[in-house]
Amino acid sequence: MKVLGFAGSLRAGSFNRGLLRAAVELAPAGMEIETFDIAGIPPFNQDQEAQPPQAVRDFKARIRAADAILIATPEYNYSIPGVLKNAIDSASRPYGDNPFDGKPVAIMGASIGVFGTARAQYHLRQSFVFLNMYPLNHPEMMVGLAESKFDAAGRLTDEPTRKRMVDFLNTLAAWTKKIS
Ligand code: FNR
Repeated sequence: MKVLGFAGSLRAGSFNRGLLRAAVELAPAGMEIETFDIAGIPPFNQDQEAQPPQAVRDFKARIRAADAILIATPEYNYSIPGVLKNAIDSASRPYGDNPFDGKPVAIMGASIGVFGTARAQYHLRQSFVFLNMYPLNHPEMMVGLAESKFDAAGRLTDEPTRKRMVDFLNTLAAWTKKIS
């Protein structure tokens, strides 16, 4: 089972990029999580959607090749970061050429606040309706107080959170089998 993961933060020390690395490290047997860096995706301009830049072509091809999608989102002002929305919007166009169509998807997120990106995650779910994706509902992978759960190198060290990650990824594997 191939999963494509991407994080909605460009920050070098990003907790969400760290969460994605933890998912790669803790993926169950039979699941391979590859990652895509959205940093190279330029601001979306609909005038160019029929001839997308190479970074968007690459992103779309990687999404198409995946059995499931895994998104690590920060929470910015109670919603998802613009760079993440921009990447999703860019990949979803032009109309009728949406590589997310019919894919299972799981969301996770880390925040320095106590709610662990809950509000951003529910906003992201709204986009899955139009994208026609199948989001995993439970367990929810919201990691609050992130500063206390990663070490200085950005490794997820909090043992209960690592255990939750294993459960989350196992459930994503079962969900992906069910959907396909
Ligand atoms: C934040 N942060 C934040 N946190 C939160 O829990 N709820 C929020 O609404 C916001 N809003 C917000 C807006 C903007 C513009 C920034 C830059 C930050 C704090 C956020 O959780 C923190 O910066 C995380 O470290 C961002 O994720 P990465 O970059 O570590 O992955």
